[in-house]
Amino acid sequence: GIGGGSHSVLVFGGKNTKFGMSKKDAVAAYRFAKKSGVKKFGIHMMTGSSILDSSYFKKATSKLIDIAVEIVEECKISLDFINIGGGFGIPYKPPEKPLDIKKVGSDIGKIFNGRKSSKILDKPWLFVEPGRYLVADSTILLTNVHSIKKGPVKYVGTDAGMNTLLRPALYGAYHHVVNASRLNSRSNESVHICGQICENTDILAKNRKLGNVKEDDLLAILNVGAYGFSMSSQYNTRPRAAEVMINKKDSKIIRQRETINDLIKGQKVVTWFK
Ligand SMILES: Cc1ncc(COP(=O)(O)O)c(C=O)c1O
Repeated sequence: GIGGGSHSVLVFGGKNTKFGMSKKDAVAAYRFAKKSGVKKFGIHMMTGSSILDSSYFKKATSKLIDIAVEIVEECKISLDFINIGGGFGIPYKPPEKPLDIKKVGSDIGKIFNGRKSSKILDKPWLFVEPGRYLVADSTILLTNVHSIKKGPVKYVGTDAGMNTLLRPALYGAYHHVVNASRLNSRSNESVHICGQICENTDILAKNRKLGNVKEDDLLAILNVGAYGFSMSSQYNTRPRAAEVMINKKDSKIIRQRETINDLIKGQKVVTWFK
């Protein structure tokens, strides 16, 4: 199979991953479904995420169409849709460049329309699931510096952490960080930015330049709109953050900051220990 992604853990395709199935198993599954009375069919792939190489989508779509044609021929079914999933990346780390989305769209369109017009694929819908591409750069995580630890490595401690933004701890994802309190301050000093969670992996960013960073500075962690809040947790009994939407000069709270009560909401006290 085909797989791609910015980190090895973001590659979902391939024979050793927990996702998907081999072509042989897929054919057997469609046959079984048809025999069991299923009338409507489609095919879906999700081969990886955060991909910035525009040529990848051409390769993966081509492969899926080839497989779809084989399935249609072998199982004598028609497909209502072909879903090429997500994977459309955004530039997180300078100097990454945005995906050439026009080229991706035109490449996919050519492959899809070329085959779609053939007799085998009977005008299926083409679906895409560009979750990250649509929302990742919509959101900034603001966090205060509450402590600075000096030593061989300088740690800047914040009131966010892996509980607020898990991606760096989970797979070393890079999020650009700006010291919003000192935009024009320059310093060559590199620091690690961490949270307050009782894990060594509670690091939001490593080796960053934050100017002459001080306690109470406000840091802006960029591009957290995808897999940000949805991956956040109450680990270490930390209430989740509020969310604020900004529209030009207007701002509105769209999710209340959690309270201590939210941490215990839904818990039940059993009588066994009375
Ligand atoms: C089935 C499916 N579709 C779409 C997506 C979104 O992918 P992306 O983050 O690459 O936009 C995912 C993410 O894991 C997924 O599993």
